[in-house]
Amino acid sequence: MGGLVLGIDASTTATKAILLDADGTVGGVGASEYAYAVPRPLWAEQDPRLWWDGTVDAIRAVLASSGADGSDVEAVGLTGQMHGAVLLDASDEVLRPAILWNDQRTGAACDEIRRAVGPERLIEVTGNDALTGFTAPKLVWVRDMEPEVWRRVAHVLLPKDYVRLGLTGVHAMDKADGAGTLLFDLAARDWSGEVLGALGIDPRWMPPTFEGPEVTGAVTADAAAATGLRAGTPVVAGGGDQAANGVGVGAVDVGTVALSLGTSGVIFAATDAPIHEARGRVHAFCHAVPARWHLMSVMLSAAGSLRWYRDTLAPGTSFADLVAEAEGVPAGSEGLLFLPYLSGERSPHPDPLARGAFVGLTVGHERRHLTRAVLEGVAFGLRDGLDLMLAAGMPAPETIRASGGGTSSDLWRRILADVLGAGIATVDTPEGAAYGAALLAATGAGWFATVQAAASATVTATPAAAPGRDAAAYADAHARYRGLYPALAPTFHGA
Ligand code: XUL
Repeated sequence: MGGLVLGIDASTTATKAILLDADGTVGGVGASEYAYAVPRPLWAEQDPRLWWDGTVDAIRAVLASSGADGSDVEAVGLTGQMHGAVLLDASDEVLRPAILWNDQRTGAACDEIRRAVGPERLIEVTGNDALTGFTAPKLVWVRDMEPEVWRRVAHVLLPKDYVRLGLTGVHAMDKADGAGTLLFDLAARDWSGEVLGALGIDPRWMPPTFEGPEVTGAVTADAAAATGLRAGTPVVAGGGDQAANGVGVGAVDVGTVALSLGTSGVIFAATDAPIHEARGRVHAFCHAVPARWHLMSVMLSAAGSLRWYRDTLAPGTSFADLVAEAEGVPAGSEGLLFLPYLSGERSPHPDPLARGAFVGLTVGHERRHLTRAVLEGVAFGLRDGLDLMLAAGMPAPETIRASGGGTSSDLWRRILADVLGAGIATVDTPEGAAYGAALLAATGAGWFATVQAAASATVTATPAAAPGRDAAAYADAHARYRGLYPALAPTFHGA
């Protein structure tokens, strides 16, 4: 029969497998959930074997529920949580639990990296400042804190590449995820000998890197027996979850900008050169599309702010009812501002100690004002990230492709259009990263000549909101919002 590709997403909470046919129609979804460990406050770890077991279960589930046969799958594409440090010995045994993207133990290691490479040189080579989320600080932490583990390291992988090892027996990585390690030369799209050398990381530990649709290996007989796939099925490089999501929503060329409004809020833009923000305040990584890079601003609590607010101050109220109350409140929430840094922040203030705030409360404010202030504050924070991306040289977008739970609110979409100064469109590919991984597999299988062709044949964007007459009121409120972080930072830092 044939005619299917498989996308696998090894995320922090589950591994998902989706089947796609040549029209881009999703033929089935299988998922296997798991948890991550918090062995100490602010730490986050996961046993890599969870991702492999999750992959086996998710593939078996999607094949069973769709009625497809493993031999119908012509290629596999991988995506997953970025930045996690997977350390293996010479026999590919896991040396310690993987340290994940949301682990915050590495503040001192970030300082050490800036010192060892030189703060300006680090940004010049990698396009990024050292942030606790990235892989390099996790490696430096193990080097300094667990020398007995460090001595036995033979391979460093990222989460989805551990799944690749299980499927193909090959150590390999895609360039998008590679760039998220902070060990890449962004312009050269490969490992930086200079940064590896400065941090004492053996270059032989790092796998060869590939463009997103390139074939990295084939399903082994053992993996075929475990999953039900056909031995010999090609596995393409794929991409880290943000780059794969960019492919899945069609943000594959300069001018197409995507917003993902989930727990975190990410603005993602493809670029055709390795540009970066002067102080590294937005991420600059390789795209999963060959010869493309991307800029990305990351807000840690976006729809997560609304969830916290609802659960804490309006428990039991549906999001729809809560947001409906805020409809009648004028733009600017009658002077009330909300600062959304509930989990610290990455862009525009890379500050794990940043905190949230309501500022400007009066006895005239009601719950509906607080709700609207939350929606507006998240939009203002996203605008700050977008402004840094524009300052880095990205062209201003006319339309932004939005996905994620938050974009189901019509009011929030209108606020975002006014504040971001661009139309908001919704896309028909809710499976995001897994969908993008499947499109990379489809390109690798030769169904499409390029990733761009794959995305334009399969992803539809529908206009959903345009900037309107409230934009001026929001510009005033945003100007006041921008003064809050500098004024409050000493309080956040305990000064
Ligand atoms: C991106 C990032 C997150 C994780 C979550 O920089 O840290 O998107 O990849 O899965």
